[in-house]
Amino acid sequence: MTTRRPSSWLPFLRCQQRSQYPYTSPSNSHTPRLIPTKAENILETGPSPKSRPLTEKEREFLQSAIRVNQAGELGANLIYEGQYAILKCDPRLKPLIRHMWDQEVHHLDTFNKLVAKHRIRPTALRPLWNVAGYALGVGTALLGEKAAMACTEAIETEIGGHYNDQLRTLLDMLKDDKDLLQNGELKQLMDTIREFRDDELEHLDTAVEHDSKDAEGYHVLFNIIRGGCKAAIWLSQRV
Ligand SMILES: [Fe+2]
Ligand SMILES: [Fe+2]
Repeated sequence: MTTRRPSSWLPFLRCQQRSQYPYTSPSNSHTPRLIPTKAENILETGPSPKSRPLTEKEREFLQSAIRVNQAGELGANLIYEGQYAILKCDPRLKPLIRHMWDQEVHHLDTFNKLVAKHRIRPTALRPLWNVAGYALGVGTALLGEKAAMACTEAIETEIGGHYNDQLRTLLDMLKDDKDLLQNGELKQLMDTIREFRDDELEHLDTAVEHDSKDAEGYHVLFNIIRGGCKAAIWLSQRV
């Protein structure tokens, strides 16, 4: 899959000095990289021989969780890509959005690898999230810096809560289950979700610190975007 070039969509918004920001990887692509670097290889240790096999219900939960997380991280990447295309000329916001986008690139790469490793079917709605995520990023950035930050606040509130829900379910799965506690992959998945949850909540704090709540029509904007994000999560878990 080739990556779209947002600047060619909106040539009138180009900065004089064109951004050289690399998107996901040297291949500049959303497609999974199947050869993970050592630091990113969260599945290096497989389940211990002592760990029991997962039940059908547990397997379904994990497949659905990884699928929806990949979809969510793809959407987040495209939102930041859209915002960056519009706000990259702003010296205050450019490094901020770039930093958050950078973290989303790492999140997406990680879930791409998990999807590939476990042969999980990605959501069929991926093309829709491609368009909707980028349009949301561009649209809110065009409304202004504060609206862009309100978008970030709404998305990260929902995603942070979503990761917390997954952590609670995983903790319930492991609770009092000595066999499953030996499963190194599950433990690493929990550590990954915990780390990404913390990143998302940091993005939320950044948005609030940059006046998200002062955006015009903040409450309407926040609730519409958060509701859309919730619906996207619900759909991506199932379709
Ligand atoms: Fe993320
Ligand atoms: Fe985020």
